[in-house]
Amino acid sequence: MSSDTRKRSSSELGFIHQFIPAANRSDQITLLLLHGTGGNEEDLIPLGRELFPRAAILSPRGKVLESGMPRFFRRLAEGVFDIEDLKYRTHELADFVEKASKVYGYDLRYVISIGYSNGANITSSLLLLRSEVMFSAVLFRAMIPFMPEKVPNLSMKNIFLGAGENDPIVPREQTEMLFSLFKKAGANVVLHWQKNSGHQLGYDEIPAAKEWLSNVPIK
Ligand code: MLT
Repeated sequence: MSSDTRKRSSSELGFIHQFIPAANRSDQITLLLLHGTGGNEEDLIPLGRELFPRAAILSPRGKVLESGMPRFFRRLAEGVFDIEDLKYRTHELADFVEKASKVYGYDLRYVISIGYSNGANITSSLLLLRSEVMFSAVLFRAMIPFMPEKVPNLSMKNIFLGAGENDPIVPREQTEMLFSLFKKAGANVVLHWQKNSGHQLGYDEIPAAKEWLSNVPIK
C-alpha cells in the first residue's frame, strides 16, 4: 500500500496507470513515464521523482504482452518493430494522455515524457506523430522507431538522448541517426554518451538528465 494517499491507480481511460498529482497546485510539470519491456507503471516512479521531484506523474502500463511482458507496441524480433502496430499504439497512447489531461487537470504544454528502452522508442514515435502531447522528452536507450515520410516540426521541443557506449541492443549509428533526425526537425536536442554502459542506465546520466531538465525553458 502506497504512503502517498493522493496516488490514484486506475484501469480507466483505456490503460492501467498511476496518476500522482504535483506536490503543489502551482507546480505545472507532469511527467509521462514510459517503462521498458517487462516493466509496469510502478517502475519509473523513483526515476521520475529523482529527475523532477515536485512534478505530477502519469505512468501507464504498456498494453501489448510479449510472453507475458508488457510493452508499448509489438515487435517481430529484437529491434525489428511491427510498424503498423507501433503507429496505432502511438495514437492510442497520445489519445490517453490527452484524455487523462482533462480528467486529472494537467496541461499538455507542460508534459515531459521520460522513456526507457521500449518506452523511449514509443516516445520517439510520439514525437514524430503526435508531438502536441509533450513539450520535452528524456529518452534513455532509444532507437529510430521508423523513418517519417515528412520530417515533423519539433522546433518547440527539448530532447535529452541518453545512450550507452556499449549498448548491445541500440547500435551507435541508431543513436546518431535519431539525434540527426531530431536536429533536422529543429528540436533543441542533446546527446549524452554514458561511458562503460550498456542498455542499463549508468551512474552519471541521471544527474546529467536532471541538470538538463533544470534548464529546460518552461513557458
Ligand atoms: C524495443 O523493442 O523497443 C527495443 O528493442 C528495446 C527493448 O524493449 O528491448
